[in-house]
Amino acid sequence: MIKPDDNDFTSSRLSRSVRAALAMDSEVPEGGAMCVTANQKPFALFKVGGKVYCLDNTCTHLGGPLCQGRLQGTIIQCPWHGSRFDVTSGNVVGPPARKPVRAYPVAVEGGKIVVELP
Ligand code: FES
Repeated sequence: MIKPDDNDFTSSRLSRSVRAALAMDSEVPEGGAMCVTANQKPFALFKVGGKVYCLDNTCTHLGGPLCQGRLQGTIIQCPWHGSRFDVTSGNVVGPPARKPVRAYPVAVEGGKIVVELP
């Protein structure tokens, strides 16, 4: 379990992004999702084929929580009205959403899921 104090939200010198440990790799089930919060923002973590992906947890249609949707392969379906997004890119693959959700670079370091946040 990652505690809020484990993260350092100060900006890196090389970019304006911050690296935050959002969860332990072992906490996200294969083929499943996990809802997390960092810097008071909700994110959705997904694991497909042993690889972890991170998206904004807010559907671009009307704000549904993507981490509570159904994951089939790399496609997450919003639980509210069924929009579908590719978790590897955030791109829309099924309506009614039209805009992609933001995707963030993920690395697993020492068993922790580290995400680069803006
Ligand atoms: S809020 Fe996600 S499809 Fe409508």
